[in-house]
Amino acid sequence: MPLIAIASPKGGVGKTTLTAHVAAILTGRGYRVTVLDLDPQNSLRLHMGVSIREQGGFMAHIRERPDWKSNLHATECGAQLLPFGTAEPKDVLDIAAALGTEPELLANPVQQMLRDPELVLLVDTPPGPGTALAALYPLVDLLVVVLLADAGSASLVPQIAANSFLGRGSLTRRAAERAVVVLNQFNPASSLSSAVLEMAQRALGHRLVGVVARDEAVAEALADKRLLTDGAPGAAEDMRVITDEMVRRAHLRPPGQRRGGFSALNEWGG
Ligand SMILES: Nc1ncnc2c1ncn2[C@@H]1O[C@H](COP(=O)(O)OP(=O)(O)OP(=O)(O)O)[C@@H](O)[C@H]1O
Ligand SMILES: [Mg+2]
Repeated sequence: MPLIAIASPKGGVGKTTLTAHVAAILTGRGYRVTVLDLDPQNSLRLHMGVSIREQGGFMAHIRERPDWKSNLHATECGAQLLPFGTAEPKDVLDIAAALGTEPELLANPVQQMLRDPELVLLVDTPPGPGTALAALYPLVDLLVVVLLADAGSASLVPQIAANSFLGRGSLTRRAAERAVVVLNQFNPASSLSSAVLEMAQRALGHRLVGVVARDEAVAEALADKRLLTDGAPGAAEDMRVITDEMVRRAHLRPPGQRRGGFSALNEWGG
């Protein structure tokens, strides 16, 4: 507990970058973090320092009901990673279809992970809607939507503000209501960036939880198989500020502080 998913209607906006950094920052603060990659690109492992030769993973085998514990990879930052694994394009389509008809394939193991009261589960997702993320809608505590400070992203803000960006239906709407927005690759010298930020602030109010500066150091760090954990001004500092805000919005207790309440009720509730 709890589950924080990082998603976006758009691709290439910085979801995986943010997921990896939030995992490292939370781990550095003493939280126990597991990161689950739902994206068949299987790239979260690269951000987290796992070798490109590593083929194994969790989602690639989800139809066989794999034991998630035996798929956990230790990472350099201390978080545990469940990589997607390598899958053929046809398998990717079949996995998506299987999750559409049987969302429990994913929801059940994730529910088991969430029984650990000390754990924070971060989920990185592929762009757009998908059956894997949809399987987790009832379990998501905070949905962090990453957008760019550009016109394409700005056009999606009204749907996010109206809680309609995930689709129709009460259950879907409930997940959409838990969405907050991060604006990535913000360039203060660009009048377009500033105009998109102002528009997003007006439309989303407190649901805009942070802005990450466009910063060459992000791409350089990835090419060097490191994360920006030093907190230097720029994207590194912005991602620390956003992590603080996520801790607050997801009501994370300080590490080591046990959840109150009645343990038997958690067990009976499945
Ligand atoms: N704040 C930033 N400043 C500069 N470059 C960035 C920033 N954030 C991300 N990038 C770069 O943008 C590219 C896309 O980032 P990333 O892979 O995290 O996006 P994504 O949303 O996960 O993409 P996909 O939809 O393909 O999963 C990467 O090359 C990354 O290094
Ligand atoms: Mg990604």
